[in-house]
Amino acid sequence: MKGAFEGKVAIVTGGTSGIGYAVSEELLKRGATVRVIGSRKESVEKAKAALGKYKKAAFEAVDVRDYAAVEKMVADCVAESGRIDYLFNNAGISQKNPYEKSTLADWKEMIDINLWGVIHGVNAALPVMQKQKSGHIINTSSVAALYGTPYQTLYVATKNAVIGLSDCLYYEYLQKNIFFTVVCPGDVATPIFKGQIPEGAVPVEEAAQIILTGVEKRERMIVFPDLMKEVLEKCKDPVFRDLMHKNSEMESRLVFASPEYQEFLAGQKRR
Ligand SMILES: NC(=O)c1ccc[n+]([C@@H]2O[C@H](COP(=O)([O-])OP(=O)(O)OC[C@H]3O[C@@H](n4cnc5c(N)ncnc54)[C@H](OP(=O)(O)O)[C@@H]3O)[C@@H](O)[C@H]2O)c1
Repeated sequence: MKGAFEGKVAIVTGGTSGIGYAVSEELLKRGATVRVIGSRKESVEKAKAALGKYKKAAFEAVDVRDYAAVEKMVADCVAESGRIDYLFNNAGISQKNPYEKSTLADWKEMIDINLWGVIHGVNAALPVMQKQKSGHIINTSSVAALYGTPYQTLYVATKNAVIGLSDCLYYEYLQKNIFFTVVCPGDVATPIFKGQIPEGAVPVEEAAQIILTGVEKRERMIVFPDLMKEVLEKCKDPVFRDLMHKNSEMESRLVFASPEYQEFLAGQKRR
């Protein structure tokens, strides 16, 4: 059976590491032509050494902050492969520190990469997709953006904006055969954690399978792992949100195991 990605053309920004790398490899395994993008020459060379065995892989160093470079990335893809079916705007950086320690320069870097990077990708790919009358843009946000997450203000602000723009564009382009998906992962075991991988983080290969299954179904929003869907559902209750905030240093998994959570459940029954 021909899979959804066989013979298709994809660009994956942040494809040289973590989630983007795993998505790139899985797309290649499924028969897609993939342009694997990183910002640094070294990361691109490293990805090339590992994924170069796939004949349909191409590699390019592109800083997503630079619109001219992103336009060239899309133009190169069209020149070499004739089209672009999927653009994964996945490149991103994270931040976790008290707000008063965040400078305006930190804000600028976060917005430039996590938000302008996505806008640049969307603006460069949309004219091509409109001409083709088809395409799918997948933007990576985070579950952290779906409820207040102390110490991650800069990150959450940008990832929230990514959800907002993806949601608007989903409805605006649905009738034009151009699809938008926003991916909201929980913890995934990648170098973004700088060696401090949280317990229970999803392995990257599993994350790639979940993401591609959702993309194949053209889901508007992909949230994983399932535990996070449960957390989001519970967050509709302000009492649970308070509990999450009180335990903001605690992983959601542990919140569910805490005595406070048992009290919350008992309180829910009484209400
Ligand atoms: N891991 C998680 O738990 C998690 C959870 C929620 C959301 N996310 C999101 O998922 C995405 C991927 O994260 P990850 O965990 O896989 O991170 P990662 O392993 O650190 O990979 C980040 C990727 O982004 C690229 N990148 C960074 N700045 C760039 C720039 N200015 N231009 C182009 N590429 C750039 C990096 O390439 P270079 O090294 O060459 O710059 C690298 O390929 C991010 O948007 C992140 O916010 C991750």
